[in-house]
Amino acid sequence: MTANELRNLYIDFFVKNHDHKAIKGSSLIPENDPTVLFTTAGMHPLVPFLMGAPHPEGKRLVNVQKCIRTDDIDEVGDKSHLTFFEMLGNWSLGDYFKEGAIKMSYEFLTLDREKGGLGISPKKLAVSCFAGDNDAPRDEESFKIWRGIGVSEGRIAFLPKKNNWWGPAGQTGPCGPDTEMFYWMGKNEAPDKFDPDDSLWVEIWNDVFMQYNKKTDGTYESLKQQNVDTGMGLERVLAVMNGVDCVFGTEEFKKVVGEIRLLGSEYYMSDLSEDSLMYERIIADHLRSATFILGDQFAVTPSNTDQGYVLRRLIRRAVRFGRKLGIETEFCRKLAGIIVENYGDFYTELRENEEKIFEEIAKEERQFSKTLDVGISILRKEMSKLENLKDSGISALEYNFCFHMFDTYGFPIEMTIEELKSAGWIKNEKDRKSIMEKFDECFKEHQKLSRTGAEKKFSGGLADHSAEVTRLHTATHLLHKALKIVLGDHVAQKGSNITAERLRFDFVHPDKMTEEQKKKVEGIVNEQIKNALPVSFAEMTVPEAKAKGATGLFESKYGERVKVYTMGDPDNGNVFSMEICGGPHVQNTSELGSFKILKEESSSGGIRRIKAVVSGPKSF
Ligand code: ALA
Repeated sequence: MTANELRNLYIDFFVKNHDHKAIKGSSLIPENDPTVLFTTAGMHPLVPFLMGAPHPEGKRLVNVQKCIRTDDIDEVGDKSHLTFFEMLGNWSLGDYFKEGAIKMSYEFLTLDREKGGLGISPKKLAVSCFAGDNDAPRDEESFKIWRGIGVSEGRIAFLPKKNNWWGPAGQTGPCGPDTEMFYWMGKNEAPDKFDPDDSLWVEIWNDVFMQYNKKTDGTYESLKQQNVDTGMGLERVLAVMNGVDCVFGTEEFKKVVGEIRLLGSEYYMSDLSEDSLMYERIIADHLRSATFILGDQFAVTPSNTDQGYVLRRLIRRAVRFGRKLGIETEFCRKLAGIIVENYGDFYTELRENEEKIFEEIAKEERQFSKTLDVGISILRKEMSKLENLKDSGISALEYNFCFHMFDTYGFPIEMTIEELKSAGWIKNEKDRKSIMEKFDECFKEHQKLSRTGAEKKFSGGLADHSAEVTRLHTATHLLHKALKIVLGDHVAQKGSNITAERLRFDFVHPDKMTEEQKKKVEGIVNEQIKNALPVSFAEMTVPEAKAKGATGLFESKYGERVKVYTMGDPDNGNVFSMEICGGPHVQNTSELGSFKILKEESSSGGIRRIKAVVSGPKSF
């Protein structure tokens, strides 16, 4: 059975047999719920209607909803966890309740394929019902309905809230007890007694009886109407219907996984281990999620906040695990192409946005690869310098160093640990743990410090507010951006000191700059001076600044307002640089006259220093 067949079967069953209206799935980004980043279930966009607002399409609805859940991101890599999935769902908005829902579910599961059901044998099914607590009674009603249909007592389990209660999707809202359906994956006959802890019983469908509203104080009140919200995970049911025990074994994933194996073929020839299976699943899952986020009707691109941050993390993790499989070439765009091909007929937005998907995914991969290359070369240099101290253990390589790798070069701690492991510095779990503990300690300390730093309102680095210093300060912003353009996005400011005579600017970069690179940087700055860009600033919160793509010191207390300086004309979309900064700056870049680099030298490990001047009203 293909995904398309399953989607059609489900929708048709509820539309044709049970008078439902098929509605379109919503965006992955919830429109009216700032408490969650992504749509996590089919009911999410329907909350107002579950609360009692009339839905234009009536009281019986059915659809397929794309969902993202990232809580279990670290579990992805096993046979069933996914960050993106499709949820098949049917709803009653104050129409049918427990009896209607349970009977329809059972009918769809067991009805022959030719008659429009899944044709599952009742012998392979079991169910669970809510056991009851102080908030709501034991669900005897559902139990009786299941018994009435013919499900034996042994195949019905009563379970507590932790298992058999669903919602609300955010902090508050509709929720209620549920009854869940399980499928026996074992090769032998299913046991008479249903044991929910036996992993061969796989949950395939959830009927939630949404009759409560959870309030902000944590208590529940009855809703105006009794609703039904059901959710069937498409990937899981497809696996079941195709007799595979792993969601990555279905048609939709096979091509992607096949391509990953080709790309990493040398590695695979020597090793088709559990680990390599895990890595390929992580890549396939993460790039599918990234493709859907980038292709969503709401424009999201990789960034350091909110959905953009999750997207960035998904792509970067895929790249990281690609390296583990020995994939040395750029691969994300290619896999995204296969994913768009797989899903583009049903999710037409993927085809509409395919250029953006490919461009953004490749850009993020390139940027991160550069970060990794820079980090690896610095780490290896450092390790070889201390080679003779290796036997005295990891403390010789200063634990702090691992944090420095992260803080200064954006190099992921997991990769530092892997490098240290393969070079023999980390010898056992104890070594790894102590590094992680030290890392967490440094991380917390760093957060505290940057908060204090932010409170000082970015006044550092300037000798005074004279005209000379102000001009050089503006030049620093142009230089920072030009360095990023010429050397790459890993360039980050690590310090600045300006006197009336010259600017000094420290930044992350592993190598000495070539003459050509220096000329290019100089050229870009001078071009922006010639372009006579207006300089302006606006005050906003740090999250707002981040969302606009400003660079600068990001950690700050929530709600604090900062100045963001823009060089260029935002109204014409012609912005050259945007930085969080306290000022002061000139009003127009033309006031700088011209710009010249005097010196480029090493400041400390992996940090370069530039000294430069501007001519001001005169010229050089
Ligand atoms: N909203 C329910 C779930 O996600 C159906 O399982």
